Formats: sequence, C-alpha cells, structure tokens
Amino acid sequence: MADTDTQNLAVERGAWKSKLGFILAASGSAIGLGNIVFFASNAYQYGGGAFYLPYFIALFVLGIPVMIVEFSLGTMTGRSFPLALQKLAGKKGEFVGWWSLASALTITMYYITILGWALSMLVGAFGSLLEPGASAPFAPFAEPSEGVSAIAWFFGAVGTIWTLTILLLWRGTETIEKGVRVFVPLMWLFMIALIVRGLTLPGGVDGVLYLFTPNMDGIADVRIWQGAFAQMFFSLSLGLGTMTAYASYLPKTADNVNNSLLVSFLNCGFEYIAGVAIFAMLFVYALNPAGSTLSLSFFVIPQGIASFPIWVKGFGVFFFFLLVIAGLTSAVSLVEGMASALIDKLGISRTRALAFVLVPGIAGSLMFALPTVIDPNLSGNGVLGLTLLDLVDNWAFRYSLLTVGLLECLLIGWVLGADKLRYAVNQHTKFKLPAFFDWMIKVIIPVILSAVLFGTLWQDLTREGGIYGSTYDMPGYGWLPAFIPAAWLVFTLVLAAVLASRPTVESAPHTPVAE
Ligand code: PHE
Repeated sequence: MADTDTQNLAVERGAWKSKLGFILAASGSAIGLGNIVFFASNAYQYGGGAFYLPYFIALFVLGIPVMIVEFSLGTMTGRSFPLALQKLAGKKGEFVGWWSLASALTITMYYITILGWALSMLVGAFGSLLEPGASAPFAPFAEPSEGVSAIAWFFGAVGTIWTLTILLLWRGTETIEKGVRVFVPLMWLFMIALIVRGLTLPGGVDGVLYLFTPNMDGIADVRIWQGAFAQMFFSLSLGLGTMTAYASYLPKTADNVNNSLLVSFLNCGFEYIAGVAIFAMLFVYALNPAGSTLSLSFFVIPQGIASFPIWVKGFGVFFFFLLVIAGLTSAVSLVEGMASALIDKLGISRTRALAFVLVPGIAGSLMFALPTVIDPNLSGNGVLGLTLLDLVDNWAFRYSLLTVGLLECLLIGWVLGADKLRYAVNQHTKFKLPAFFDWMIKVIIPVILSAVLFGTLWQDLTREGGIYGSTYDMPGYGWLPAFIPAAWLVFTLVLAAVLASRPTVESAPHTPVAE
C-alpha cells in the first residue's frame, strides 16, 4: 500500500488530539449512571459501610491492574478489544473479545433506556414535575398525564438519546473529543453544586456517616463481594471492551500506568462525592431507597429534591441534566467499543458500523421501555420493560464483566505472558510495574474472580424459591426468569461466534498522530 493511503486510513481510524482529550473521554466513559445511581443504591442495599470496604479493596486489587491491561491492549496493538486480544493471545482471545462486546451491546440497550427516562424527567422538571402535589415523578408512566401516550413519550426520549449518541460518534474521536470537553467539566460542576446543597441541609452529615462507617456484618456474604466487584468493573468501564477501544487511539508510547491511575482516581473521586451528596439527602428526608436501583434516581431522589426549601426546580433540572450528560458520555463509549471493533475487523465505514449497532440497539432499548403492566401488585418492577431490565441486568451486569475480567487476565497472563505486557508498559512509564504484577494477573486476580463468580452462581442456581426473579408475581410471565439468562447467553455467544468466524479485513494501520 502506498504511504499516503496508509496515512489516510490511519487518520480515518482516529487518534486523540491530545492527552487531555483522551483523559476526558476515558473519565467521561467511566463516570456515568454507575457513579450516581448504581453506586449509591448498591451501597445502601448492602448496608453502607459493609459495601465500602470490598469496594475499596476492589479498586486496588482489581480495578487499577485490569485497567492497565485494557489500556495496554489498545496501545500495544492499535486495535479494539477482539482484534487486540487476537493479536496478543490468538483466536480464543478474539472470541472472548466479541463475547464481551455482545454483552456490552446488551447493556447499552438498557443503559440508553434508563437515560431516556432521565431525559423525560429532565423535561418534566422544567414543567410541573417537582411542584408540590404533583404525583407524576413518583409514578411517571403508570398514569400518562395530559393525554400524551406514555409509550410515545418514553419511546421518543429513548430515540432522542440514541440520536445524540450516534451524533457524538459520527466522526469518531473528533466528535467524541468535542463532546467530552464540554460535558465532563460540566458534570463536575453540577456534582459539586449538589454536594454543597446536600451537606448544608440540616442533618445531611448523618447520611455521610452511615455511608462511611465500617460495618462488618455481612462481610462474609459472597454476594456483597460480587456486588462490589461488579460495581467496580462497571464503574471503571472495564470488561466491556471500552477502555481498549479508547486506548487504541493513543500512540504506542502512552504511559498506561499513569493514565490508569488518573482515570481510576477521577472516577472513584466522583463516585464518593456523588455518594455523599445522595446519602446526605436521603437521610435528611428519611427516604429509603431499598427498592430497585432505578427507584433511587426516579422516585427517591426527586422526592428529596421536591422537599428542598428553595430552588426546587433549579436543582431538579440540575440533577437530571447531570444524569443525562454523565450517561451520554458513557453510552458513547459503550457503542464505540463495538463500532470500532467492527471497523477494524470488517474494514467497513464508520457509518455502516454505527448502523450495525443502532438497529439492534434501538430495538432492544424500546423493548426495555415497554409499559405493559404485568405485575398486578407491583412487586418486582411492575411493567414488562422494567422487569426485563431487572432480569437482564442481574445476569449481564453481575456476571459478564467479571467473567471477561477473569478470561482476559488468564489470556494475557498465561498465553501472551504477563511479563511481556509488563515490559511493554514499563518502557513508557515513570511508575514501573514490579514483577509482582505478573502474579496479580496470572493468579491472584483470576483466583479472586473465580471464587466470587462460582460462589454467586451457586447461590443463584440453588436459591430457595428458584432462580433470580422467580418470586415476582407475574401471572402469565412466570417463564421469564429462566428464559432471560438463557436468551442472553444464546444471543451473546452466537453473535460472538459469528463475528469471530469472519475473515479479518486488515485496513487501518496503527499510526496515531498525537500523544
Ligand atoms: N462506567 C459507566 C458508568 O459508570 C458505564 C460503562 C460501563 C460505560 C462499561 C462503558 C463501558 O456508568
């Protein structure tokens, strides 16, 4: 191939304009609904201080090392997750890569549905949503108000979020970078405003104490550890191909240790701040987020905001705008993982790759937004869409990220050789990785992840009353709890097998232009 062609293709594949652009994009990916919604509700569910310790351990033992691996896969190969794993660990690696992206696609579907809901609440917050006496925020779709059909409204919001996501991905790194330069600083600004508000409410500090007071009850329960580990992976955007895709647009000489530390600390810093803001509010207004994860953001927090002494509307708008932009920069990265992998593998244009993700993606998102009521007592989540969301989330969120983490460590540790990765990383970093890193990747992380995965799988399969979700009261839909995990496994495994079996069209070589 002529040199100019090579260069055009490389430019087409994309490259970050600056290191700052990359850090903003990667931290924008990491900071999302996970930090604001899932962290607080998981922490509450598992008893505040009991969650905090496993979570803290997870950052150093799992989060940072796996992020170093995922960044290095990208910078060493200049390819997205499946092909990066294929180049370093062979065909099996490629299959693991595609399987992880198939899971990412599934997660993107409901992630965007939740964002559609946040957008609806944002629009509502400008109107009468948070005014005293309005019941709408607390039962938004059970009673569609003012004659607007709930389906049309919710579907419209989901479609809007998909459109924004695709627009931000339209020209790859160029448009992502433009978006994150505005959204990521705004996110911090809004969160700081919320924390100041939370802590200055009388009694707000008690919530913070609850969150941070160590609590050893239940620390022996394997589910808490799995919850904390899955939350750490999800929050840092690991196990779904995202961080490798983003790092593949960096030069080979990027400092992966420094970047991992920076992105992890930015992410977890934001998460603690969000936890403090939310717990302060929950305690002041004696709100109990014990229901599902989603009830926290869409029922409990709005109730808190509606009780603020002043500026109710302003804070309502703030909070949902924060959710939307934080989630959008994460949704973008979830889709980019798959889109960039398709471009690398099939040599197709970005437009086609985006269309390939958009078509099943939007269908899935709409499925999770179906408002048919299937649970007469509204135990579980009441409507079909949210029940599906809860069931898929149980399997995809709690199992796939950790399984990918386990498999990638085994592949890099034993097939490539962890020492090779460490040498490559150490050539370009100030903080050299010690030889102990090899054992973390080869043995320690795999042992921890296998123990947690098998422990909870055993619990899930032998649970009294049947598999997860079978205690919901859903006349006519009793088969869903068993069907969902089976369907998710078949969908992801078949998609992975099909994509892995296609021949690779080598197109864009790795010559990024900027550090
Ligand atoms: N980290 C994001 C969050 O906390 C979610 C995400 C996971 C995004 C994996 C990309 C990949 O919301």
